[in-house]
Amino acid sequence: MDLRAINKTMDRDDLSAANCRLVLIELFGLMRRMQAANAKYSSWYGRVDAWPSVWEHVNRGEKYDPISENPDELRVPWFLLWEIAWMVANTPIRPGARVLDMGGAGSLFTCYLASRGLDVHTIDLQDELCRRTTEIADRMNWRLTARTMDMSRLEYPDAHFDHVFSVCVFEHLPVSGRIKCNEQVARVLQPGGTAAYTFDYANPQSFGRIDSPADVMQQFVEPSRLRLAGDGVFRDNGKRYLETPQCFGFGRFTRGMATLHAALTGQVAPGRAVHRSTSYTMGAVFLEK
Ligand SMILES: C[S@@+](CC[C@H](N)C(=O)[O-])C[C@H]1O[C@@H](n2cnc3c(N)ncnc32)[C@H](O)[C@@H]1O
Repeated sequence: MDLRAINKTMDRDDLSAANCRLVLIELFGLMRRMQAANAKYSSWYGRVDAWPSVWEHVNRGEKYDPISENPDELRVPWFLLWEIAWMVANTPIRPGARVLDMGGAGSLFTCYLASRGLDVHTIDLQDELCRRTTEIADRMNWRLTARTMDMSRLEYPDAHFDHVFSVCVFEHLPVSGRIKCNEQVARVLQPGGTAAYTFDYANPQSFGRIDSPADVMQQFVEPSRLRLAGDGVFRDNGKRYLETPQCFGFGRFTRGMATLHAALTGQVAPGRAVHRSTSYTMGAVFLEK
C-alpha cells in the first residue's frame, strides 16, 4: 500500500524529484514533436492561438521563475508542468487504459496521455477545442476522442474508465457542479480505478472556494465516496506562487482602485482583497475506487 503524502499543494521543488523529472523530459520531447508537426495544444488558459494578455503575465506572480529547458514557456508555465508531472508520477496508469480528461480538450495533458498510447476521451464546454483535438488526433495518429460535454453531467456508461483526470478546471465550476461531477466520477470509474485532479487552491476569486483541507474533503472526497489515496490526508504547505490579476494596477492609486473594484463587484472575496492577501497556489488530490 502506497502511504506517501501525495494530496497537497504545489511545490516547485517537486519538479526536481526523479519521478517528476522523467515526466518533464517526456513532456518537453512531446512539445517539440507537436510543434514540428504543427499540431497545436492549448495554453494554460485553455486557448489556442491566443497571444497571452497582461493579466496572464500578472497571474504568474511577481517572482515567476521559468524553467530554462521548457520549449514553450509562453503557453506552458511551470505550474502546468507541475500539475501534469505530479498527477502522472503519482497515478499507477495501466498500459492501454481507457482514460477520461475532464475540461481537457486540446490540452497538453490530454495530448501527453494519448502520446503514451492510452485510449483517451477528453471533454470540454468549448466546441472549438474539441474540433482542434480531432485535428490533433488525426495528425499525430493517436487514440483520442473529444466531445463537447459538461463535466457535471457525464454521458458515459457505468464503470467505463480506468482513470479519470482533470487539470485546473474544478475552480471554474460552482461548488454544486463540483459535487455533482464527483458523484458522476464514482459512477463512471471501474472498481480499482483512480481519479486525480489539480485545482486552484486558496484563489481569492469569489468562484475559487477551495481554501482549506476541509474544502477539499467536502467538495471532492465526500461526494465521490472514493478513498483518498496515499496517506489519506490533504496538506497545505503554505507556499503561494500565483497572483490574482483582478487587484492589479500601475501605481498605488490604480492598484487601490482595481482592488476596490474587485472587492465591490464580488470578483475577489472582500476580506482577501482588503488584506491584500491575493496570492494563491495549486493543489492535487488522488482518489481510488
Ligand atoms: C484553465 S482551462 C484548463 C485546460 C486544460 N485542462 C489544461 O490542462 O490546460 C479550463 C478549461 O475547462 C473548461 N471547462 C470549464 N467548465 C467546464 C465544464 N463544466 N465542463 C467541461 N469543461 C469545462 C473550459 O472550457 C476550459 O477549456
